Amino acid sequence: MSMADAPLTDKRILLGVSGGIAAYKAAELARGLAATGAQVQVVMTQAATEFVGPLTFQALTGRPVRIALFDAAHEAAMGHIELARWPDLVLVAPASANTLARLAQGRADDLLSTLCLATAAPIAVAPAMNQQMWRNAATAENVATLVARGVRVWGPESGDQACGDVGPGRLREPEDLLQDVQRLLLGGRLTGVSALVTAGPTREPLDPVRYLGNRSSGKMGYAVATALAAEGADVTLVSGPVALSAPHGVRRVMVETAQEMHDAVLARLTGCRLFVAAAAVADYRPLDAADQKIKKHADELQVELIKNPDILAAVAARPDAPFTVGFAAETENLARYAEAKRRTKGVDMIAANQVGAGLGFDSDDNALWISWDGGDVQLPSMDKGRLATRLVQLITERLHAQAPAENPR
Ligand code: PMT
Repeated sequence: MSMADAPLTDKRILLGVSGGIAAYKAAELARGLAATGAQVQVVMTQAATEFVGPLTFQALTGRPVRIALFDAAHEAAMGHIELARWPDLVLVAPASANTLARLAQGRADDLLSTLCLATAAPIAVAPAMNQQMWRNAATAENVATLVARGVRVWGPESGDQACGDVGPGRLREPEDLLQDVQRLLLGGRLTGVSALVTAGPTREPLDPVRYLGNRSSGKMGYAVATALAAEGADVTLVSGPVALSAPHGVRRVMVETAQEMHDAVLARLTGCRLFVAAAAVADYRPLDAADQKIKKHADELQVELIKNPDILAAVAARPDAPFTVGFAAETENLARYAEAKRRTKGVDMIAANQVGAGLGFDSDDNALWISWDGGDVQLPSMDKGRLATRLVQLITERLHAQAPAENPR
């Protein structure tokens, strides 16, 4: 059964809609939630009603929308405290910068903020706002406060914004939010699966201050680790030097060289069911790193390189090998070279990306051609977070197809 079909029969979801252009997407989300059998009660902020009419949500959910904190008719039927006790989940989508700030402050000056304060149900927020507002330190602090209190933060995604900007702040797509809800309420499909992910570049020292490296930012591998954790996997991320913070709920091990990454991975393979190699590992390292800083006396400098161990091939060759997923970074002949890597390294699945100026490395978006024994699929260019979710869906299907008895869902 695919996650999209997983029923939420009789689950009670309080869908909070706050003001912003993304409010119209909440209508699609309400429809999707209702279609899985959930009972959906929409609560709108006053600002949200400027963007979408309450009647739209009423028609989609079969329930009158609640807006006002003090509404005599509604209070007589189901008072706000009763309403706070009703849901299995409170999902605020879209959550504007203002709503995040008010939730972080614990305000109770409208119905939605009061319900968030009064409920014992888990709360999830799906932020949507202008990219500069999302990057603002005040919003970052509010989000950190909410996360520290156990609020789930789903998204935002990066891309074109309604205001014409490009960057992080787009509402997560309704179908992805639907899956987030299903995972939270029904459990992830990788619960009990131990996964290892490599990400980022490696640095191969030339001398104490210089190294050979590459342009990997770690974004792709970190997104994969995040998507696996969202499916309930127990994730260890072995990361080269990057400027990213550890994803929530993921164990991170920092390394520098290919050899260190190799050792860190091999030391953690016991019990591992899934290995995803997204790191851009240096194929070669300087044979002898100089003890002292190399002086620029000569006009030419020869550096002898020696091959690094291939981590992915080493993992795939083990008798107790987990399900292995490699990446292939190619500047030409994408499918042909990637297929060759899948076969020679003996991996179960390969995710190939075209790399070059502005492509693959250090970008927010990426596209992947994914191939396994018996199938392949092209995923078009999209935000790396979204792309990782799609990749993890495919991995999950293949993993379960390989060992159905161990993975009933
Ligand atoms: O980090 P980002 O900026 O987000 O960029 C993402 C990415 C482009 C780095 C990522 O999507 C990607 O393609 N990662 C693999 C890069 C790479 O080294 O590809 P490759 O074709 O050279 O290697 C093939 C596979 O073998 C990869 O899974 C790699 O991790 C693995 N490998 C390679 C060499 C080595 N010594 N050990 C390995 O495990």
